Amino acid sequence: ANAGGALVTTRKGALGSMPTTDEINRLMESAKPDNDDRFRPGFHFSPPDNWANDPNGLVYYEGSYHLFYQYHPYSNKWGPMHWGHAVSEDLVHWEHAPVALFPDEHGAIFSGCCVVDWNNSSGLFEDSHGLVAIFTHADTHPESGQPRQRQSLAYSSDKGHTWQKYDGNPVLSEDDLIDFRDPKVFWHQQSGRWIMAIVAGDHARFYASENLREWSLTGEFGKGEGSHDGVWECPDLFQLPVDDAGRSKWVLIISIGDNPDCPEGSRTQYFIGEFDGKTFINDNPADHILWLDYGRDNYAGVTWSDIPEQDGRRVLIGWMSNWKYANETPTGSWRGAMTLPRALSLTSKDGSVVLTQMPVREIGQLRKDSLSWKDVTVTPKTPFIQQTNYNLLEIEAELDVRSGDAVYIHLKSAGQDEILIGYDPADKRLFTDRSHSGVTDFHPAFAGRHGASLAAVNGQLRLQIWLDRNAVEVYADNGLVVLTDQIFPEAPIESIGVSAKSGQVVLNSLQIHTLESIGIPGGRNEA
Ligand code: FRU
Repeated sequence: ANAGGALVTTRKGALGSMPTTDEINRLMESAKPDNDDRFRPGFHFSPPDNWANDPNGLVYYEGSYHLFYQYHPYSNKWGPMHWGHAVSEDLVHWEHAPVALFPDEHGAIFSGCCVVDWNNSSGLFEDSHGLVAIFTHADTHPESGQPRQRQSLAYSSDKGHTWQKYDGNPVLSEDDLIDFRDPKVFWHQQSGRWIMAIVAGDHARFYASENLREWSLTGEFGKGEGSHDGVWECPDLFQLPVDDAGRSKWVLIISIGDNPDCPEGSRTQYFIGEFDGKTFINDNPADHILWLDYGRDNYAGVTWSDIPEQDGRRVLIGWMSNWKYANETPTGSWRGAMTLPRALSLTSKDGSVVLTQMPVREIGQLRKDSLSWKDVTVTPKTPFIQQTNYNLLEIEAELDVRSGDAVYIHLKSAGQDEILIGYDPADKRLFTDRSHSGVTDFHPAFAGRHGASLAAVNGQLRLQIWLDRNAVEVYADNGLVVLTDQIFPEAPIESIGVSAKSGQVVLNSLQIHTLESIGIPGGRNEA
């Protein structure tokens, strides 16, 4: 379905000639789905067709959650970026909306955010309020021929259905900076102005504005801090309470791009500290790295703006892929999906503050049938096996691993495929193994086992697993450790097994829930 021809670009590279409306229609027509949909997710968001990457412009406005995303409507590979658009009332069921932002004379539309300009501080609305998108325009510098990235605005007075680009675009450019992109803007109550967190290759920068149109630099953070395995991308900055202790901390999320020398590919780190209205101050030593997710497929995640205060939640969604192999995954006429939306919290662990994440409670409405077991002892000879013949599942397991024996959860398909999730108390490691998970040969870095350290508290471990046709998400100990991974099983998952490596492990409780498909257009309607 690759339309080719009219638009020429390389990733982060130059935008070629702009298409006319006729060309756009012709290209969209020629890019219609023409391929099998066997990996189409049942309850993860995926685009109607073609290529999607980062979530963009996440905003809650007048009863709807908006999800914009990096979208290439003419091909299932990355290309000149548009903003695709979907709308939800519950963060679970999505409706596809028309493409929101098209490339223009300033370039392609890279990642960015949306805010509700409640008081018309921008002056872009007739009299009341509306949505303002702040995004990166990516083109080529006319003199140097180098990629150029500048920040621009678009606004909508009809709840995000139609958008107008601001006449004064771009509103922020820094000629000396490269990889200057992905603005995330929020209203900073304490100083009564808008703050933008943005990245520039090896650091984050903070700008302030009274009207979203004029920005001044207030601070920089990050050279020499955290991981610099790849270029810094997609920042997010917000404040959260720590437990219920009455104090709060600031969280700075930074995604880092793929580096050919790192097997992990692109991934996301976060920092905990303070924001003084001008810059971010890290609580931890510069070489202390905190990872958001220990799976391979949670990238460029950012959080929703303007979720009502009384709801008090900070919800993140990530792009469920990895730049290492994103352009090669075997999904056919569409490519790229989002993680489940997750509510974030901060908790104190061993004297320092860390982020935890759990799928938003609304996901619970997808449960159909539930089966449960209690006090099952498994040994290598007597594993627990349950046929499910159903591949949209949520699994909750409370494991007693005091015996010190490793425990494995096997998600097996009718063929030979198996997704293996395991915990070994001896080396205190939780892992997902997708070596034999189905189609894995599209990229050498895809198959394999990866995980995180995790100490089972008092020998008890709680795992929650969401299994879809294209992904498995594993949450341990209420989201303290999370592994999000794409999988491409050749045949549907047929059975769930739990086994011990040598001695025995006790399953204090186990629940298996079958899940409803969200049935979005372009996706399948039933499991
Ligand atoms: C992250 C990213 C962003 C950029 C966008 C382009 O995945 O590289 O930095 O804005 O994707 O599609």
